[in-house]
Amino acid sequence: MPDTPALLGGTPILEKPLPPPNSMGQEEIDAASRVIKSGVLSGFIGIPGPAHLGGREVLALEAWYKSKFGVKHAISVNSGTTALQAMITAAEIGAGDEVIVPPYTMCATATAVLCCNAIPVFADIDSRTFNIDPVDVRKKITRRTKAIIAVNLFGQPAALDELQVIADEHKLTLLEDNAQGPGATFDGRWAGTIGKAGAFSLNQNKTVHCGEGGVVLTNDDRLAHRCQLVRNHGEVIMDGLMAADPNEQYEPLLGNNFRLPEVLAAIAHEQVKKLDELTKPRVEMANYLTQQLESIDCLTPPYLHAKATHVYFVYAMKFDATIAGMSRETFVKAMQAENLPLGGGYVKPIYRYPIYQQPAHRCAGPFAYEKPSYEGRLCPVTENLYAEQLVTTNICRVPHTREHIDLLVKGIKRILAAKDELERL
Ligand SMILES: Cc1ncc(COP(=O)(O)O)c(C=O)c1O
Repeated sequence: MPDTPALLGGTPILEKPLPPPNSMGQEEIDAASRVIKSGVLSGFIGIPGPAHLGGREVLALEAWYKSKFGVKHAISVNSGTTALQAMITAAEIGAGDEVIVPPYTMCATATAVLCCNAIPVFADIDSRTFNIDPVDVRKKITRRTKAIIAVNLFGQPAALDELQVIADEHKLTLLEDNAQGPGATFDGRWAGTIGKAGAFSLNQNKTVHCGEGGVVLTNDDRLAHRCQLVRNHGEVIMDGLMAADPNEQYEPLLGNNFRLPEVLAAIAHEQVKKLDELTKPRVEMANYLTQQLESIDCLTPPYLHAKATHVYFVYAMKFDATIAGMSRETFVKAMQAENLPLGGGYVKPIYRYPIYQQPAHRCAGPFAYEKPSYEGRLCPVTENLYAEQLVTTNICRVPHTREHIDLLVKGIKRILAAKDELERL
């Protein structure tokens, strides 16, 4: 039978899984070899003076970010995780402060808070957008709350207007984790530039990348300066700055080495120039997939907030097992047997990881002293999406085309048509 699902012995729709996309071209190769030939693989020196701010490739990359996103400051670092850490420390969030984060995100959104000796407090997400729910954020505010980190999950900005209102009312700092959302907009403004600062990632799996890297964007001079200090052994620099100007006052600040090497900055600079050309087809493919899903009742395509544009870093849908007549597990397994890219659940709600669940442990920074309760189904919307409803695909990305989307939809239809046989397996 030509339409027998692969899980039931048919021929898979794709002979083998699609290879990971490779957006590296001659430009990146030339940029990397130019830097290697120069012999300067890092322009940073941990002493006061211009070299404290990095070499020419780092500065050129930062200039691109400033110009593209129309912000005063861009501070490159060596990962999205360290971008979050630098941003949190620079925003003067530290020991004992509570930071409200969503539990449905890459774990670094919350571990970065812990690494700054602050305490992540989880607010549930909106079941339509999958982004942090302003209504639940309000419920999680205590006298210790210092900040909200909005994650622009899957490439769609969170409800940044409502979150800013809450932040203003309670004198909190709104920060953005924009690792997944470069190029998206909210109310006509770039995601990652709306909060007091925004963290970006240049990790291998992102639309544009240099293997590992990150950037913080902000219009706030003080926050930017503090980011630069955290990135490069801040105390040594401050010491020098104070020696130069005894009137300068600096509070203690834990410096680190979050410096981005020159080769990676040069590769990243070539990559970011391709952001628009890699994002546009992604959005077109996602819109095409949304159209194709109109005839498939058991899958709800991504919901778009009225003020947002979405870059579909991940195309996330809701699966209804009752309508489908099969469990999500069977559906995902059957799609994977067709070699089609589809996953179920995204990530485990973050608070379920051992660092949050086990008794206070010395390695868990602030938890060595005090640990809030992360028990039970803390965030029920997230729990349901994780356990039952959410399915994702990353098929909407260059070099894939509409033909790949057609194959995905063909696979979905093939599997749903064989629901009874598949459920009996
Ligand atoms: C939402 C989110 N935050 C933070 C990060 C961390 O970025 P990086 O891997 O560059 O450290 C990622 C990366 O996967 C992410 O998706």
